[in-house]
Amino acid sequence: MSETVFLGGTFTMAKDLTVGRMGYGAMQLAGPGVFGPPRDRTAALAVLRKAVALGITHIDTSDFYGPFVTNQLIREALYPYPESLHIVTKVGVYRDSKGGWIHAQSPAELRRAVHDNLINLGLDVLDVVNLRVHGGDDGHSAGSGSLAEPFSALVELQEEGLIRHLGVSTVTPEQFSEAQTIAPVVCVQNFYNVAHRNDDIFIESLAQQGVAYVPYFPLGGFSPLQESELDSVAERLGTTPMAVALAWLPQRSPNILLIPGTSSVAHLHENIASASLALSDGDLEELERISA
Ligand SMILES: NC(=O)c1ccc[n+]([C@@H]2O[C@H](COP(=O)([O-])OP(=O)(O)OC[C@H]3O[C@@H](n4cnc5c(N)ncnc54)[C@H](OP(=O)(O)O)[C@@H]3O)[C@@H](O)[C@H]2O)c1
Repeated sequence: MSETVFLGGTFTMAKDLTVGRMGYGAMQLAGPGVFGPPRDRTAALAVLRKAVALGITHIDTSDFYGPFVTNQLIREALYPYPESLHIVTKVGVYRDSKGGWIHAQSPAELRRAVHDNLINLGLDVLDVVNLRVHGGDDGHSAGSGSLAEPFSALVELQEEGLIRHLGVSTVTPEQFSEAQTIAPVVCVQNFYNVAHRNDDIFIESLAQQGVAYVPYFPLGGFSPLQESELDSVAERLGTTPMAVALAWLPQRSPNILLIPGTSSVAHLHENIASASLALSDGDLEELERISA
């Protein structure tokens, strides 16, 4: 039997949930605007198969990518899933007929979303479900308000055995704490990268509690990172600015898990290679200037 390789070292979110710190975000596999089928279905399936072949044990996804397309691709490419693979999904949004992102947080909508994820992924139980709450004005910064009702609805589904662990996404520290009073939370998924550092203090507090922090848009998402400091560190190390941006994250805090998204096997290789890129104190100091 082959041994599992944990890329970038491991993080244990719960006693039955250990993942490599270098994961993969599947959002980019749907069509343009994360809507509809991919331009090249064969290429999308190849990226997923290659990710797992290279040792990825954590795939981040959602049924609202496509909608349904990304989860169906994951199932087609990878089912039956290797035991070491953990698929983390999120609920709380649906897509309208034009691709709009509509919040869907009522208990009935969340129940339907969990059942849809189970069907599309071909699973009897979901490893981790993140509640994606309403963001602030830009949709990606944390908003405000209580998440008690939707989070409690997910707890009910967890008690029914459909979900192993719960996470929250696009939340403030206060919303995270509120969720924790209702049920254990194993991960927080928020917008964060070397140039967008609103969660610096939050990350440290989560690290102290042993809770995973999973930054989305680690490479800038729809607006790729462009920083002269990334260019100069990359030139010095003989790598790419994107590899430096990714390598910075796990060195930033031991509870950070990576889920860079790509639709390209070449980029996947580059991103995975960044898991073994060590940044020196001098490199880190230079990168610190991006947010100063
Ligand atoms: N919770 C939430 O609300 C939320 C929101 C957004 C995303 N997410 C999750 O977070 C994951 C990561 O976010 P993301 O995919 O939006 O953004 P990202 O990882 O910051 O960046 C993805 C973009 O970077 C490009 N890219 C990837 N690797 C590259 C490389 N080595 N060199 C150059 N370009 C590269 C991709 O293009 P190519 O396809 O051409 O490589 C794509 O355009 C998503 O896949 C999703 O699972 C969650």
